[in-house]
Amino acid sequence: MAEKNKRDGFGSKIGIIAAAAGSAVGLGNIYRFPCVAGENGGGAFLIVYLVIVLTLGIPMMIGEFILGRRAQKNPVGTFKALAPSAKGWSLIGYMGVLCAFLIIAFYSTVAGWTIESVYKSVINYYHGKDLATIEQGFNDSINMTVRPLLWQAVFIFISAFVIAKGISKGIEKYSKILMPILIIILLILCVKSILLPGAYEGLKFFFKPDFSKISRQVITSALGQVFFSMSLGMGALITYGSYISKKDNLVTTSLMVGLSDTFVAILAGVIIFPAAFSFGIRPEAGPSLAFNTLPMLFNQMNGGYFFCLIFFILLVIAAWTSALSLLEVIVSYLTEELNLSRKKATIYSSVGAFIISILAAMSLHDGSSLTIFGFTIFDSLDKITSMVFMTLGGLFTVLFLGWKIKKQDFEDEFTNSGTVNIRLKKIFYYIIKFIAPAAIAVIMASQFLM
Ligand code: PFF
Repeated sequence: MAEKNKRDGFGSKIGIIAAAAGSAVGLGNIYRFPCVAGENGGGAFLIVYLVIVLTLGIPMMIGEFILGRRAQKNPVGTFKALAPSAKGWSLIGYMGVLCAFLIIAFYSTVAGWTIESVYKSVINYYHGKDLATIEQGFNDSINMTVRPLLWQAVFIFISAFVIAKGISKGIEKYSKILMPILIIILLILCVKSILLPGAYEGLKFFFKPDFSKISRQVITSALGQVFFSMSLGMGALITYGSYISKKDNLVTTSLMVGLSDTFVAILAGVIIFPAAFSFGIRPEAGPSLAFNTLPMLFNQMNGGYFFCLIFFILLVIAAWTSALSLLEVIVSYLTEELNLSRKKATIYSSVGAFIISILAAMSLHDGSSLTIFGFTIFDSLDKITSMVFMTLGGLFTVLFLGWKIKKQDFEDEFTNSGTVNIRLKKIFYYIIKFIAPAAIAVIMASQFLM
């Protein structure tokens, strides 16, 4: 089965770090992180977020890499291969594939807004406009019928194109150079933003935690955001793990990927909140926060036209490298488990995701009745994937790692057959076996208790 589609691999260590960071860093960092942090009290959210990244996020990333590299398979095949007598565990893999599919649907809608922003930058639309006009323009764009759909079709198409070409030729090549450029632009924007009048209030909002604001909702939202941002709990990193060479150190790789992802999210906060406070935009403005705040910031800069254009192009690319990993989850499943050709698998998954993404986009139109339990389809997809599927997937993944697979498999992968990280082994095993499942289960259960 798998032999027919020979497994590709990452060519170098920097390749896997770049590709995994490419999956992690995306709209989740620059659009979703400030949005969720703004809605959940700023500093209080940040502190909970950081604690979760360090105690759960990074260990879970190592854990997913362990599974993928051990099994050398897609998420469904991984659970089947590592516990052949307990087929039920492969349901986690199926849930991951479904989750990837649903994420692409709303992710491409936001990517579409980003392409719209590139278009607006090209025609110099933002120049000299005040906040009310930019906000109105954002609303009008979302309410258009054809244009948002066209942009998201373009987005899914370019992602499908790279995926159809295969791993090392595709993902690695594009990820390697672009991430550093994005970080440089973000650093310049940080400096610009904190020099704005009134920026201090924004910095205070983001960095000064009001501990009384830490509620169950803040903790659950932070957990969901960590999973979303680090691409955890739905098989993306299992899939990438299956392409990592046996020589790579999974601990250092995960630390580098996890910390760069968190660094970019913090940079986004340092850009958005000071600027938002300075321009009088509410931090809890929701999904439009980044899309209205950033153009206002560019309007204040020398060379704003240039920065705005480059920034939004890079953001599309960051979204694109994330979408690649989402599509790869589905495509690796379809090729290895259902024996489809890579081309067919890519066409089916991207066309399917595009159809759902149409509903997601249309559900945001003013007065749309495309809702589920009172939430728009867009919001429902966003919430259900990060706060249910990914967290549940993460919970079962750590249970699987800690209690189901052979301890020897676990240790061999963690230590590269006894050559690295020997001393960390015990503590890591303890986290995966006891702490991580207990913490995720408690946080998830707390949502349902009054
Ligand atoms: N981590 C990506 C982001 O922050 O934009 C989103 C994502 C990509 C989630 C891949 C899940 C995934 F498998």
